[in-house]
Amino acid sequence: MKYGLIGKPLGHSFSREIHALIADYDYRLFEIDEDELPRFFQERDFSGINVTIPYKQTVIPFLDEISDEAKKIGAVNTIVKKEGKLFGFNTDFFGMRALIKSAGLDLENKTVLILGTGGTSKTAVEVSKSLGAKKIVKVSRTKSSDTVTYDEAYEKFSGADVIINTTPVGMFPNADKTPVDIKKFKKLQGVIDAVYNPLRTNFVLDAESIGAKGRGGLYMLVAQAVYASALFLDKTADESVIDKTYARILTEKRNIVLCGMPSSGKTTVGKALANDFGKRFIDTDDVVVEKKKESISDIFEKYGEGEFRKEERLAIEELSKENGLVIATGGGAVLDENNVRALRRNGVILFLDRSLENLVATADRPLSKDKEKLKNLFEKRYDVYKSCADAVIPADGEIADVVEKIKGVLL
Ligand code: S3P
Repeated sequence: MKYGLIGKPLGHSFSREIHALIADYDYRLFEIDEDELPRFFQERDFSGINVTIPYKQTVIPFLDEISDEAKKIGAVNTIVKKEGKLFGFNTDFFGMRALIKSAGLDLENKTVLILGTGGTSKTAVEVSKSLGAKKIVKVSRTKSSDTVTYDEAYEKFSGADVIINTTPVGMFPNADKTPVDIKKFKKLQGVIDAVYNPLRTNFVLDAESIGAKGRGGLYMLVAQAVYASALFLDKTADESVIDKTYARILTEKRNIVLCGMPSSGKTTVGKALANDFGKRFIDTDDVVVEKKKESISDIFEKYGEGEFRKEERLAIEELSKENGLVIATGGGAVLDENNVRALRRNGVILFLDRSLENLVATADRPLSKDKEKLKNLFEKRYDVYKSCADAVIPADGEIADVVEKIKGVLL
């Protein structure tokens, strides 16, 4: 029995990890060139395969039958071999439907804007129809008979209820981009982003910042795999597996970012957490010290705080692109809005809330080297820490208690 994924390139794919959590077959990645497809389908040396870019349409002529969804969308992402025949399905359709539901969005009688015109855009259109959307508008940079431009969308559809991004805008390495200016939409209930790298794109973060719902594409990726796996094994998909698998993948991929005052325990708690979760621990201060080859006090003294912040920003920009880290930030890092945005993309930010009387002033921290300075910083920063964090963790207790509290929030 052979299962796996075909496409090119496949280096980035999470599919192997996801299928390993869902079922106990061996699932492999087959990176193949287009001219190898005829031989691959002639040999049919597989039981079930998934298909990703750029072959979701190319594979159709090789199949014996395709499902209604796949026909409507014009793309196949799952192929099952049964009695020698090949059957094509589109589980991205069910994946996106599950994503919209899990985000708590209701499309019934709503106006939905779909950004982009590629394969995922077609999926989004069919899913929106199936969920009873009243009006579906495709938005593209270039105008055509069935699309409007972004300017027209702002003008004519500022009352849209839901926006689905199917473009790659906002995906790493261009994570600082966003496909649309969300503030122009006054009635927005929420947004969906098919992009899952980063886990929370700027588009999703923008939605959260205006109090709308926002969800990235990881849930869809997991859900389509659960539906594909059920087809492979000729079973009914168990929807509770989607939530469980999503939670596990998210816990594994997401960075845990600790912020708070100097001496609030970020490093100690961070190391303990990294140990518990099997993640790598990084302290942004250490990255800066290593690069400059000088202590923090020396950097402040010789080059000034501006230079330190510049290096801190560079360190955070790089670390924010990674997955599965525990990151302890320097006490001032989250005062910079750009650092917060970067850290949130792949991470959950936790504020270690330790009371002023339990914080200590130390000579190696120029901004908090005496009790007076520490008190001033605390008063100036407390609200910033609180508002940038996804969760506030009371941190006056023992390390083990703080770690347990964090686990309670994250798991
Ligand atoms: C700073 C805190 C320090 C270090 C630098 C600036 C601050 O990190 O980044 O001295 O602005 O509070 P810790 O919070 O890890 O001590």
